[in-house]
Amino acid sequence: MLIQPAFKLGFWTLLVFSYLQYGWAAKCGANSPSVRQTQVGFGDPPKFMVEIQNNCPMCPAIDIHVKCGSFSQTLVDPSLFKVLGYNDCVVNGGLPLAPLQKISFNYSHQKFLMSLSTWYFQCE
Ligand SMILES: *[C@@H]1O[C@H](CO)[C@@H](O)[C@H](O)[C@H]1NC(C)=O
Repeated sequence: MLIQPAFKLGFWTLLVFSYLQYGWAAKCGANSPSVRQTQVGFGDPPKFMVEIQNNCPMCPAIDIHVKCGSFSQTLVDPSLFKVLGYNDCVVNGGLPLAPLQKISFNYSHQKFLMSLSTWYFQCE
């Protein structure tokens, strides 16, 4: 009695998940979001420009998390880049970046290493 609904749910979850996977593969290819830093100021402290871009030409990217070390929230507007905890920052409040949309901000501090952590593509 209990097994069957659980099985059905599992089946549908798998089906939907496979479809989403297929959607990404077909529409986004290997175009995962990029996180780039460029040094733009050479004083003390140095200044860095951070650019985060959704490189998928067809689907919005949502809930983009970045490994950000001990990045400090005081350096940036949290609506652009919110520090959730050590090594976990979220871009644009977790809201979608449109296809090919880029957000950018600058911070003045010793460099914090950053790299892409997790995200989802929202393909129809
Ligand atoms: C960041 O700094 C660069 C170089 O000074 C400047 O061109 C760019 O407009 C700045 N970006 C922001 C978001 O302030």
